[in-house]
Amino acid sequence: MAGALNCMISSTLSHADLLTPYKKLKGSCWKCRPWFVQQQHDGNGRRKHAIVAAAASSSSSSSSTTSTTAPPPPKTDYAYMEKENSVKLVCPVCYQPLVQTGRKGLHPLVVDASSFRCESCHKPYMSMTGIIDLTISGGAQDLEEALPSGVALFQNPLLAYVYERGYRDVFDIFNFPGYNEEFKMAQVFLKSAKGGTILDVSCGGGGFTQRFLISGDYETVIASDYSEAMLENCRGFLEKDSAVDSKKVVLIRADVARLPFATSSLAAVHAGAAIHCWPQPTMSVAEICRVLKPGGVFVASTFLLPIPPSPLAGIFTPIRRTIMQLGLPFQWWTESEVRGITEACGLVGWQSIRRGAYIVFAVHKPV
Ligand SMILES: C[S@@+](CC[C@H](N)C(=O)[O-])C[C@H]1O[C@@H](n2cnc3c(N)ncnc32)[C@H](O)[C@@H]1O
Repeated sequence: MAGALNCMISSTLSHADLLTPYKKLKGSCWKCRPWFVQQQHDGNGRRKHAIVAAAASSSSSSSSTTSTTAPPPPKTDYAYMEKENSVKLVCPVCYQPLVQTGRKGLHPLVVDASSFRCESCHKPYMSMTGIIDLTISGGAQDLEEALPSGVALFQNPLLAYVYERGYRDVFDIFNFPGYNEEFKMAQVFLKSAKGGTILDVSCGGGGFTQRFLISGDYETVIASDYSEAMLENCRGFLEKDSAVDSKKVVLIRADVARLPFATSSLAAVHAGAAIHCWPQPTMSVAEICRVLKPGGVFVASTFLLPIPPSPLAGIFTPIRRTIMQLGLPFQWWTESEVRGITEACGLVGWQSIRRGAYIVFAVHKPV
């Protein structure tokens, strides 16, 4: 049901139509959830569910949840959504360009009405509820790889739900100044990227993505994370924010160590409070360097060992390494270790702001 229904819905509803009844939406369908299943009351205190677009487009009641009471939805303005997008997607297996069939563009509503395939190795990729899954294992059957703990933790839907609803505030204990202040500091480092495309990698619930979009400083903002649950929450927050221009958003599920973007194609990459969760930080920063344009900027924040920079900090390194090898989900760095990772990947011009255990830094890809 879901595939056919979604296709039909995608061709009949506009983004604005979907956002309007959002607060009333409750139902679940793997693909059309949560945009299209509306909870209604029948006047006798009983609840029923109406699949809005199905009712508008089909007279058959193929399911008990189908209602004939929903108004016919207006036509989708695809001309608006199919705007040419400068984001160049590549296959994460072979780094060759992806071809898109069906609707064109990367608008969250358009991508569900189209499909992606690698032009070289022909591997297909799918999208669901506006999020294009460009992980290598995405959609694979019977593939149960054990995930490192820093990745696995954020797959949990409960954690994803509470992340922007309290969990993130706990970072204050480690001197993180909070989204507004962190965003301002990042923007200072990101000045050279204005007007270009920014990738908010490991975007989580989208606290930074939302601010990048509202700033109006970027042509396109790509929200990307490995966790589907975090991305679902991110999409939900963006949908509800009327200040967000949906045609500037692209939602991509991706592994930071295997980014599905063309080499030298992005003006900036931002990674808020994430590098310490990545299982392969050096590989990941190398990937970030690959996708940046020459002169492009990488801005990131992380936790440092909560001790002042001094030769003594080195004493803790072997202890910390041992703890990490036991499977803790987060790394604790010294500033010189983080800087060392960026330099090993060829990034230059280290700048940083430190407040206790919090650090935000910027480095550039050489021109
Ligand atoms: C602590 S959250 C940071 C979220 C947000 N950027 C912020 O500033 O709060 C770390 C994020 O890194 C993501 N992550 C972990 N491993 C990843 C990987 N291999 N590739 C991409 N994202 C990853 C997690 O899913 C999670 O959303």
